[in-house]
Amino acid sequence: MKRRTFLYAASIAGLGFPVSTKAGNRITKLPVSLRETCTLDGNVFSVYTNAKIEPAKVFHITDTHLSLDDERGDAYKQFSKRMAGAYRHNKFWKSEEQLSSQEGFKRTLEEAKKQKADFLALTGDIFSFPSQAAVEWALEELNKTGIPFAYVAGNHDWHYEGMKGSSKQLRDTWTMKHLKPMYQGKNPLFSMYKLNGIRFVCIDNSTYEILPEQLAFYKEQVKSNEPMILLMHIPLFIPGHNIDFGCAHPEWGEKSDQNFEIERREKWRTGGHTKVTFSFYDEVFNSGNLLAILAGHTHRTTLDVKKDIPQLVSAHNATGFYTEVSIKTYVQD
Ligand SMILES: [Fe+2]
Repeated sequence: MKRRTFLYAASIAGLGFPVSTKAGNRITKLPVSLRETCTLDGNVFSVYTNAKIEPAKVFHITDTHLSLDDERGDAYKQFSKRMAGAYRHNKFWKSEEQLSSQEGFKRTLEEAKKQKADFLALTGDIFSFPSQAAVEWALEELNKTGIPFAYVAGNHDWHYEGMKGSSKQLRDTWTMKHLKPMYQGKNPLFSMYKLNGIRFVCIDNSTYEILPEQLAFYKEQVKSNEPMILLMHIPLFIPGHNIDFGCAHPEWGEKSDQNFEIERREKWRTGGHTKVTFSFYDEVFNSGNLLAILAGHTHRTTLDVKKDIPQLVSAHNATGFYTEVSIKTYVQD
C-alpha cells in the first residue's frame, strides 16, 4: 500500500468511516462520520465537515433570562417574584458597562444582522418565567431581524416557581398557554430546521429527561445521514463536570437535587434517569452525521469532545454574550 493510501485508510478508520469489524459471526458497520475538525477561538466556534454544504453562520444565543412583564402577569407574581429579580443588571461581556438582559438580547440581534448571520439558535432560558409580555417582545425583536431562528425551551422558560404540578405538566401547560408562538408551528418537544444543507435538530430536555417520541425522532434524523447540529438546553453528561451537565448524568436524581427548595419545584426523579434518556445519550454519541451539540444552562462557556463529537456550552446572553458558530466544508488532502 502506498504511504498516502495507507494514511488515508488510517485516518478514515479513526474518523468512523464505514469500517467492518468482525466479532464472532457478527459484522458491525461503524457509522460514517461527516466530521472533520473544530476550533474555539474566543466566542467563535468553527465546525468543519467533509459533507458538501453551503457555509452557514449561526448565532448561538442562550440563557438571556428576560423578565419583563405587564398586568397580565399580576396574577402570577407569587410564582415569578424570585426570577423576576434575577439578571436585571448584568456586566456587558465586552466591557464594564451595566446592561439589562433585554439590552443584551437586543445588542446580540443587532450584531447578528450586522454580521449577516444565516440562523439564530436559541437554546433555552430565554425567559426567566413564561411571561406573555416577554414572549411577545422577544418574538417581535426576532422577527425584525428577518433571520430564521429555532427555539428550544430551558428549565426556566415554562416554570412558575411554587405552582402546583410536575415539571412535565408545567412545561405542557405554559408551552401551550404562552410559549407556543416561539415554535413557529413546529412540535415544541422535537423539531428540525434545514438550512444550507444542514439539519438543526431541536430536542427539549428542559426537564433533564428524554421522552420515547424524542428518541424516535432523533433516530430518524441520524438515518438521514445529512450533517446536523443538535440544539438542547441542558448539556449531556461529560465526566469531569458537575451535575449541571445533567442530561444522562449517572448521579442525577432525587439524591443529588440541591435546588428544589429554592426553585420551589418537585424533586428530580427517584432512582435517576430513565432508560430512554440513557439510550438517547448513546445514540447521540454514535451519530456519524452529528457535527456538534450546542447547549446552555451552566452560564459558562465550555467545550468538550466525546467520541469525536464536540459539545459547546455557551455563556449566558443576559450579558449580551453569544457564540458565532461557523459551519464550513473542509476536506483534508
Ligand atoms: Fe439559565
